[in-house]
Amino acid sequence: MIQLKNVTRRYQQGENVVLALDDVSLRIEAQEYVAVTGESGSGKSTFLHLVGGLDKPDAGEVLVNGLALQAASERELSEYRARDLGIVFQFFNLLPTLDVLENVCAPLQFQGVKHRQAVARGREMLGLVGMEKREHHFVHQLSGGEMQRTAIARALVHRPRVLLADEPTGNLDAANAVKVLEIFRRISDERLTTLVVVTHSDEVAETAQRRIRLRNGRVEAEERVGVSA
Ligand SMILES: Nc1ncnc2c1ncn2[C@@H]1O[C@H](COP(=O)(O)OP(=O)(O)OP(=O)(O)O)[C@@H](O)[C@H]1O
Ligand SMILES: [Mg+2]
Repeated sequence: MIQLKNVTRRYQQGENVVLALDDVSLRIEAQEYVAVTGESGSGKSTFLHLVGGLDKPDAGEVLVNGLALQAASERELSEYRARDLGIVFQFFNLLPTLDVLENVCAPLQFQGVKHRQAVARGREMLGLVGMEKREHHFVHQLSGGEMQRTAIARALVHRPRVLLADEPTGNLDAANAVKVLEIFRRISDERLTTLVVVTHSDEVAETAQRRIRLRNGRVEAEERVGVSA
């Protein structure tokens, strides 16, 4: 479970203070699929960075599965990121010198999982995202959609309890975006992990169980699919 309690993150820009997040409180249940929407500059990436333990709030608490991230040590945070968290970026962030399977297995090797086990798990994840026939392609031999599906497989390979995605379809054409959405639906249906997706796209937001809309660093609206609240 992810919980924000009165979270504020501010940036000083010369004379001005930007309230990237302004006293935000919210809760995301384990295995829930939530879309975070809002205009450019509304605080979406700031929110994701706080939940990912990549940044700390100026006030308030960020709790993920009971761990208070704002108070955690560097060691606790790096353990949290390596063990409990998967992140999918807009620009895929795959390693060009590794092939698809090696990219997907990299987080496991980092954790000292035996090669054979890592490969088996990597292939399982490539199956989940429909990339099993591309395992020995290098990154430059993939389409954008294939790169993103590989990145999702990599983010899931160590069975994280939380998967965060920042504009995961931002660089995809419509057909590839649909494939990525189908994967998110499947991740949600199979209850593999808590899924938080930041997006500008209504199509993406509509696949989530709940939408949280930010505006000027505050929660402007929340709605469940088909129900306004
Ligand atoms: N390092 C920083 N220094 C100063 N201001 C920042 C910094 N990072 C973010 N901000 C400001 O905080 C606000 C929220 O930024 P954030 O990146 O969270 O927006 P966003 O909703 O992700 O936008 P986008 O849709 O464009 O990615 C913006 O007004 C931005 O200018
Ligand atoms: Mg952003």
